[in-house]
Amino acid sequence: MELLDKNGLTEAEFLAGYRQKDYPRPSVTADMAVFREVEQGMELLLIRRGGHPFLGKWALPGGFCEPGETVDQAAARELREETSLTDLPLTPVGFFSTPGRDKRAWTMTEGFAAVLPPDGPEPVAGDDAREAGWFTVDSRWEDGVLTLSFDGPERFQAKLTRDGAYAFTILDTGGLAFDHAHIVARAMEKMGLLQPEPADYAVLNAQLAALVEGVPHPLANLSNAAALLWEGLGGVNWAGFYLMEDGKLVLGPFQGKAACIEIPLQKGVCGAAARTDRTQLVPDVHAFSGHIACDSASRSEIVVPLHKEGKVWGVLDIDSPLLRRFTEADRAGLEAFAAILEKAL
Ligand code: SME
Repeated sequence: MELLDKNGLTEAEFLAGYRQKDYPRPSVTADMAVFREVEQGMELLLIRRGGHPFLGKWALPGGFCEPGETVDQAAARELREETSLTDLPLTPVGFFSTPGRDKRAWTMTEGFAAVLPPDGPEPVAGDDAREAGWFTVDSRWEDGVLTLSFDGPERFQAKLTRDGAYAFTILDTGGLAFDHAHIVARAMEKMGLLQPEPADYAVLNAQLAALVEGVPHPLANLSNAAALLWEGLGGVNWAGFYLMEDGKLVLGPFQGKAACIEIPLQKGVCGAAARTDRTQLVPDVHAFSGHIACDSASRSEIVVPLHKEGKVWGVLDIDSPLLRRFTEADRAGLEAFAAILEKAL
């Protein structure tokens, strides 16, 4: 027997009487953040808008979903029409629905991102786009404020703060159209391109001290230390130790991909740290002669020497796929981390 609802209607009767206009509906759009990796960092493709609103302003390529189309199809079509780029591996990065985000009407957008290789196809502006241009985009956190710096045919900066676990609030669009600064921040975070917020070394180092307290097993302490760093630091793709053995460094406990087993002291960032007994903070490993690339994705690195009985006993090594990931605050925090660990070796 067919079920009746509280008004005594069958599903067919309910659908026949359904009045769509009783329910206000937003328009749906797609906006695409297309990045490409270049030697200086990451570039983002923007278009200069050829129509109102935000006429003449830079924006992400994007546009309205048409009847009969999925939002993924709209994304691919708009990208083709506005930039001539086709067949990109677009990944959804979030749904943007803040009321008032579009001054024309109630519009919600699905954000997408793709990362192209450096020798990818060049865009050609078309349709509503007056011009297409690549901008390097750098991210930096300071006192809870994220600054995105764009440098290309024009230079501008957007500022945002966090709003919950994954969203941001725009403090300053920098002139970028709509809420595209928010979409760019979300896209960068989702694709692993955003600098992480500074680590809280007071907490991290207190956790390490508590973990190693009274534990007489150096390997266990190093293993837990690697796990703590891996959990506690954002934007890293390797965290662990190399230990001195017969005048060379040998792989110790770590988190991340399988790595090089032996490092001679004359080689690599690790070798330099052990040889000179100095922390090595390398903003761009491609510019460090002798860097050993265990993972070609690594772009910056920090290595801190570890001592026992006054001699270099090993090194703490952390790699990042982000250029310029490590700061002076990381150096100070990790040197304090190493000093706590040294007492537990
Ligand atoms: N990059 C290091 C080698 C170790 S891996 O990063 C884990 C170096 O140049 O010494």
